Amino acid sequence: MPETRILLKHRDEPGIEDIETYERLGGYTALRKALGMERQEVINEVKSSGLRGRGGAGFPTWIKWDGIPKNTNQPHYVLCNADEGEPGTFKDRELMLKCAHQIVEGIIIAGYATLSKVSYIYIRGEFVESAKMVRKAIDQAYRKGYLGKKILGREDFDFDLYIHVGAGSYECGEESALMSSLMGERGQPRLKFPHAPLPVIAGAWNQPTLINNVETYSVVPHIIVNGGAWYASMGTQGSKGTKIFSLSGHIAKPGNYEIIFGMPLLDLVELAGGVTGGNLKAIIPGGSSVPLIPAEIAKDFTLDYEASQTVQYRMRTMRLPVVGSGGMMVFNDRTDIVTLMLRTAEFYAHESCGKCTPCREGTRWLYKILYRIVSGGGRPSDLDILMNICDGIDGRSYCALGDAAAWPIMGSLKHYRHEYEYWIEHKRSPLGDNFVPPVPNRLNLNFELLPAR
Ligand SMILES: Cc1cc2nc3c(=O)[nH]c(=O)nc-3n(C[C@H](O)[C@H](O)[C@H](O)COP(=O)(O)O)c2cc1C
Ligand code: SF4
Repeated sequence: MPETRILLKHRDEPGIEDIETYERLGGYTALRKALGMERQEVINEVKSSGLRGRGGAGFPTWIKWDGIPKNTNQPHYVLCNADEGEPGTFKDRELMLKCAHQIVEGIIIAGYATLSKVSYIYIRGEFVESAKMVRKAIDQAYRKGYLGKKILGREDFDFDLYIHVGAGSYECGEESALMSSLMGERGQPRLKFPHAPLPVIAGAWNQPTLINNVETYSVVPHIIVNGGAWYASMGTQGSKGTKIFSLSGHIAKPGNYEIIFGMPLLDLVELAGGVTGGNLKAIIPGGSSVPLIPAEIAKDFTLDYEASQTVQYRMRTMRLPVVGSGGMMVFNDRTDIVTLMLRTAEFYAHESCGKCTPCREGTRWLYKILYRIVSGGGRPSDLDILMNICDGIDGRSYCALGDAAAWPIMGSLKHYRHEYEYWIEHKRSPLGDNFVPPVPNRLNLNFELLPAR
């Protein structure tokens, strides 16, 4: 099955960063069309498209849009989440770099539909070049009258778009932490519904706020121009349209691939040139927050929101999503799973914001135990301890970062327990003596608390 490029159609078009080229290729016709529609009609079109948020959770986009109050008693905000910190995911970076006008157009349409006047795009601090391209697109859109006062002559539609650049915190991609960070507060999450109002009721500055991902907004102009039914004609029952997957790791042609939902997972691996340096061992299909899938069962997966992996541990069986943010990391059979988990644990321990105890302490404990195992000091009881810690984090942390830290390790213990056991018994990798694991202890944790033996 080939790629189906809708969002990435013009990524290689010379001059696509200039508004004239974008307009020549049909850009901003969706905005003109949307401004000729009733606001509710725009939302209905998004509803009929079946679009689900591309930030990771797959929440139906129209429900958020429709949830914004239909009056202007208070200011409404539109936020675009361009923080993209999920390991293995780099689609938003490319969309900003090469298709920034598409995002800007989608955000303006969202602003119109939700009676908003102000919007912010929160860009990951490291994406300097992407931020420059978004800046350029915004400046050009102002000059053409697509942003600013009385847009395209509509007396009732003023709309501004600002850039806010983050400072390198993964947690600030979590929507409520993003809002706090935007407001100048510490980048930590807030209480969630039902214990607190939803962002559409009280988000940024406690006002109704719509927040969507870069890719989600990028789809909107296409839905408005071609109709929701056109978009919904692609994909599966619960996953409509296309999705961009970022392929990396042991793969011949790494990069972003846009495919229609429902494609078999291994077909996408083939589309990207297949596995390099050995046979396929495992895949992380949707960013490091979704579990590792061993090659033997990867063949059973299709890429859609319906697909999920069953992870069974202790007395529970959990269904975990596979698509996530679309960051697909491919690993060949020269990959040491325990070391991979150590690297993953290091990331989450480093990025934990420290607000809640299960995650703040648990992620560091996971890292310490894994570090001990690859340092040759692992004990048979360590595997139970790892499970216990995961159990203490999963579902008990304040936001989903904690769950995301626990799931990959739980998945690896289910599928690759024998590799952990080998490490513990032989004090070296099952890949052989020549394998030297990278164990830099970048977190500077105090290992005196955990004697090696
Ligand atoms: C720890 C954490 C990090 C996240 N990082 C991002 C991110 O970088 N970009 C993003 O769009 N969503 C991220 N999300 C999901 C957002 O909270 C939110 O669901 C998303 O922006 C909603 O947009 P959507 O409905 O278009 O998917 C993150 C969630 C968590 C828990
Ligand atoms: S789960 Fe982790 S990142 Fe989320 S609030 Fe708790 S400490 Fe912070």
